[in-house]
Amino acid sequence: MTKKELLPFNIPPILGTELTNIQTALTNRKLSGDGFFNKKCSDWLNKYLGAEYSTLTPSCTAALEMAYLMMDLAPGDEVILPSFTFTSTATAVTLFGATPVFVDVDKTMNIDLDIVEQAITSKTKAICAVHYAGTSCDMNRLVSLGKKYSIYIVEDAAQAIFSYFGNKPLGSFGDFAAFSFHETKNIVCGEGGALIVNNAKFVQRAEIVKDKGTNRQRFLRGEVDKYTWEDKGSSYLLGEIPAAFLLSQFEGGERITQKRLEVWQRYRQNLESVSEINIMNIPSYSKLNAHIFYIVTESGAVRDQLASYLRKENILAISHYVPLHSSRAGKRFGRTHGDQKVTDDLASRLLRLPLYYDLSLDDVDYVSEKIRGFFLRE
Ligand SMILES: Cc1ncc(COP(=O)(O)O)c(C=O)c1O
Repeated sequence: MTKKELLPFNIPPILGTELTNIQTALTNRKLSGDGFFNKKCSDWLNKYLGAEYSTLTPSCTAALEMAYLMMDLAPGDEVILPSFTFTSTATAVTLFGATPVFVDVDKTMNIDLDIVEQAITSKTKAICAVHYAGTSCDMNRLVSLGKKYSIYIVEDAAQAIFSYFGNKPLGSFGDFAAFSFHETKNIVCGEGGALIVNNAKFVQRAEIVKDKGTNRQRFLRGEVDKYTWEDKGSSYLLGEIPAAFLLSQFEGGERITQKRLEVWQRYRQNLESVSEINIMNIPSYSKLNAHIFYIVTESGAVRDQLASYLRKENILAISHYVPLHSSRAGKRFGRTHGDQKVTDDLASRLLRLPLYYDLSLDDVDYVSEKIRGFFLRE
């Protein structure tokens, strides 16, 4: 095999229909967050998820913040979340002076629900479950826990569009769910996100909170003759140009997912017989969107050597989160419940392989051969 040009870790998908929509947005001369494409995207999300309400946001981070703003999260409150996650899962909590409580993950890399139950106190306001790599958490159990203790469930579904728990799409279970459409995700618009509200109690407040605390949305519908300050709020709308781009991606979403799944399956076929590594662990209730393909090596040292070896072969394979409980800000702002043995162990041994819409199966075979070659060389 001849050495490849640099094989990137990610390339955002472009379907070819995005420019037509952007041109329509320009022709409409309506570029703020109240236009045709925002409405189309929200309608698409509501239909796909069966949601009460959804709104595009500038990011998944903003969507998480908006959820906590709506539940009046305040100092003294706690939100239980995994330590193995992106910083936003925790910064959205600390922004309101509340405390993230870090809980270990299980072998699926998702929060361990046995430990979650032990971590619940009278201060717990919400549990935020991250569907890591698009792998579903056990949503039946999580929703039951929320009901049993009267606490809100937030799905950090940043990586999970087009993934399912059983037959139901992720993002349709929590009181709130947040998606990311950052260029590293399956469905993209550069920077962007969406907040999904599945708890009807918050719907009216959502349209005020997202629009700087005003009843401007009612004004735009002609229900009031002027708009005014009504509640807490911030600026959580996404402009029309990224929304126009995003609609193309929603509409082509099945195509993107199908292609990613082919790549994911090919990696699995190629690598499942390599005895020195484990392939990511998928519970039977989880139907994947192929957001990430990761392998787990026998030690952190081997993971690092393999990543450097692949880098020399022009392949970018990357580890993932530095667990938040071990970070400077995590120690300062958070609290750790129990030990974080699985998190610390798996985070040090996990390696993500290149996976994107335009990745060819030949390239998947090439990466797989290089991984096999690394272990044969040992
Ligand atoms: C689990 C998780 N939550 C939140 C985010 C933040 O997403 P955004 O960049 O859209 O704010 C990410 C981004 O990678 C993520 O992986």
